[in-house]
Amino acid sequence: MTAAKPITDDKFTRLVAGIPIPTPSPRSFGIFITIFAVMAGLLLAYLPGYRQALIKKERAAVESHVAPYGQALSATVFEKAGIVYGVTAFAKSNRDIPANSEMFNRFASGLIPRDKSIVTIGISPGGVILNIYPPSSKSLGLDLLHDRRPDVRRDVAKTIQARKAMIAGPVLHASGKTVMVIRDPIFNENGSFWGITNVAFDKELLIQGSGIDELDKTLDIGVKEQAGDNLDMDKTIFARDPVIVTVAVPGETWLIGARPKQGWEGAIKADYWSFAAGGLGLIFVLATLMTGAIDRQNILVRAVARRTAELAEKNDIISNTFNGTVNALASFAEHKDPYTVGHERHVVQIAMAVAEKMDMPKERREGLRIAAALHDVGKMYVPMEILSKPGKLSDLELSMIKVHPTYSHEVLKEIDFPWPVAEIVLQHHERMDGSGYPQGLKGEDILLEARILAVADVIEAMASHRPYRSASTLNKALAEIKKNRGLLYDAAVVDATLAVFKQGFKLTER
Ligand SMILES: [Fe+2]
Repeated sequence: MTAAKPITDDKFTRLVAGIPIPTPSPRSFGIFITIFAVMAGLLLAYLPGYRQALIKKERAAVESHVAPYGQALSATVFEKAGIVYGVTAFAKSNRDIPANSEMFNRFASGLIPRDKSIVTIGISPGGVILNIYPPSSKSLGLDLLHDRRPDVRRDVAKTIQARKAMIAGPVLHASGKTVMVIRDPIFNENGSFWGITNVAFDKELLIQGSGIDELDKTLDIGVKEQAGDNLDMDKTIFARDPVIVTVAVPGETWLIGARPKQGWEGAIKADYWSFAAGGLGLIFVLATLMTGAIDRQNILVRAVARRTAELAEKNDIISNTFNGTVNALASFAEHKDPYTVGHERHVVQIAMAVAEKMDMPKERREGLRIAAALHDVGKMYVPMEILSKPGKLSDLELSMIKVHPTYSHEVLKEIDFPWPVAEIVLQHHERMDGSGYPQGLKGEDILLEARILAVADVIEAMASHRPYRSASTLNKALAEIKKNRGLLYDAAVVDATLAVFKQGFKLTER
């Protein structure tokens, strides 16, 4: 089976020529609405998932944008811790330093101009501030272990307990600035507490030194301690579903929260709506194309049905014309010989009954039918006197009659039948033993149709009146073919013929 070839536009145009194309039919509008509604429904069902995916993508983009600033902030704070470790080293090597000594002042005054974020530097043996720079900071003598501000006291205690540098704050400094304090505890060789160093850094300069304040102006940013205290910028950000970036600092972790100023929904709005609108547009186009395809299919079906009906009608006309021509030719031949009126018609009836009995395919029987109707058409060329002469014929007269199958063949071979009609007709006087004429063919060299036609012709001729032969009965005719079964006539054809008449076959009279 070969695959159907696609209908090209050219073929389509020819097929549908003259068939009205409804555009747009109410039916195709209904189809369009249905297709559009189904696809739009699918799109609507898909949209919430798409929205979530867009938000997820946006959050990942903000996080990867903010993360480097978090790392920079961490690095900045650890760099400040380095200054504190320097102060601790100074304190450790000068444990017997007198209060507010000249040596300390020289050391500290060297650090402050180098780092503008340093607000104060202090050393507190036993927790009491004995050395502080600049001296104007007025915290000299303050007992950090008994500070009246509970959060300061708590932060100092935590640092001593942790035995390592920790950052604390923000606190309001005596200078009026908000500071972050990095403290580093110092222990004696026996592990007992000796004292603590403190460096206070301007909070704004500390955090903004990382460049975080330069971050994209489309973002809301906040920084807070993990414990909860807000350190810088937007205090409300953490309640508004931000992206969180963690920042490691001495002794704890800070969090940076970031969110688009217009919110997550606002940030994806443009992408979301262009996708939804684009999807709807695409669905509209698809629905239009599919409706068109269905319409085109319907038009094709109607066109093929109409063309098929037209072809069937033409076929009927041709078939009727053909049958009429065959019948006209047969009756012309028949009337040439007035003594054999009805012969061809009777031969057709007998041959058809025998062929059916022998299960010959219907298609092939049609060829036999035409051959039977036209088998004596060549008698047109035999002189009327010989055909109608009563009594015995001379050898010359017989030979003139015997040429009629050849004449019939001559006439019919010019017609392009789908069956071997001319050959069947040529062989209808051949006999199984080779005693027939005109070719003297034997056995199966004779076409089966010709073998059937021969028996039908003999039966009809013997059962009817012939001028050149005395009248005979049907029984005599049947006895004749039975006697010559397998000799002159095909055995199977004889058997089928006898069976047909035994079952009561009758010739229809005019
Ligand atoms: Fe004949």
